[in-house]
Amino acid sequence: MFKAFSYLPVDGPVDLKTPDVTFQYIEYYGIIPHCPPEQPYEVFFGRWVASGLRQLIKKLSLKTRKFIGNTSMDPQLSLLMANQAKVTDGSLVLDPFVGSGSLLVAATQFGGYVWGTDIDYLMLHGRTRPSRIHQKTRDRDESVRANMKQYNMEHRYMDVLVNDFATPFWREDFRFDAVITDPPYGIREATERVGTKKEGYEVKAEHLPTHIPAKIEYGISNIYKDLLRFSARHLRVGGRLVCWFPVFREDYTENVLPHHPCLELVSNSEQTLSKVTSRRLLTFEKTREPTEDELDEYPVDIMDFREKYFVIREETRKERRMKEAKIREDDRLRNLNKQS
Ligand SMILES: C[S@@+](CC[C@H](N)C(=O)[O-])C[C@H]1O[C@@H](n2cnc3c(N)ncnc32)[C@H](O)[C@@H]1O
Repeated sequence: MFKAFSYLPVDGPVDLKTPDVTFQYIEYYGIIPHCPPEQPYEVFFGRWVASGLRQLIKKLSLKTRKFIGNTSMDPQLSLLMANQAKVTDGSLVLDPFVGSGSLLVAATQFGGYVWGTDIDYLMLHGRTRPSRIHQKTRDRDESVRANMKQYNMEHRYMDVLVNDFATPFWREDFRFDAVITDPPYGIREATERVGTKKEGYEVKAEHLPTHIPAKIEYGISNIYKDLLRFSARHLRVGGRLVCWFPVFREDYTENVLPHHPCLELVSNSEQTLSKVTSRRLLTFEKTREPTEDELDEYPVDIMDFREKYFVIREETRKERRMKEAKIREDDRLRNLNKQS
């Protein structure tokens, strides 16, 4: 076999135990084991560059994870996101819509030190309704931290904090290496922020300790504007924002995507969700620090996915109801004809 490759300009001695370079030669004989062809269908030859990490998909399976929520991201996509974000040993990573923390779990596998924030107090304290069918109540120790412990990554866990993303609290000069997130689309969970429609509303000092703030609609458009503005400010130059963005497939062009002058879109791929909807996995890289103007409101029109989603859903339901009514009416007439 070595002789067959003697035409290659590789002059060094063969060292099978501690090689400097490894070449792989693979013959493909199809998938029927008991009658392979005489010659392989295909052969592959290449130099080993790096091992894959597919085993992590099984290791991080949601089936065996201590704490999950209804919107936990599956490990394959979470790992993909951390990879796209170029998380590496020592990276500081934030998920500002952290939920059950699946994206943070993936980021720790690449060496990230992880922070998360979420508006949902019950979720962060592992007190929402259990997501597993046969589980009646949550265990006392279910939490994002418990997941980190399960995977021996507690040392990479910075913390998760209750925070409304519309009013972030980070120091202005704080910089992350990556922001990885899946914001709410308003379909399975609401897009809300803290606020009230009442004018001049003030909470009296004596009520503050037990006050639960009211919420108002945040809206997809504002969420993505805030997310890009936040990333433009709080990523280091060269740092990455990786996030999902829902679209209607018929409306999709790059023009419908959120954008910011300091963030370059370096990758954009699609996951189909239904006949009409999909979501794009967007990766932005920060190219420079923003000017004061660029941190303020900037003109970008983002369609309200939620509004159109419910309009289309209502139309589809109406169509289905009409079709079903027609089938019932046809059956009735057929039966009448048979009887007469
Ligand atoms: C799609 S889920 C994220 C799921 C998460 N990736 C996981 O694996 O569990 C979106 C999250 O955003 C949170 N959220 C909604 N509005 C928010 C706001 N204004 N500020 C911060 N978090 C918010 C929700 O509570 C929810 O946990």
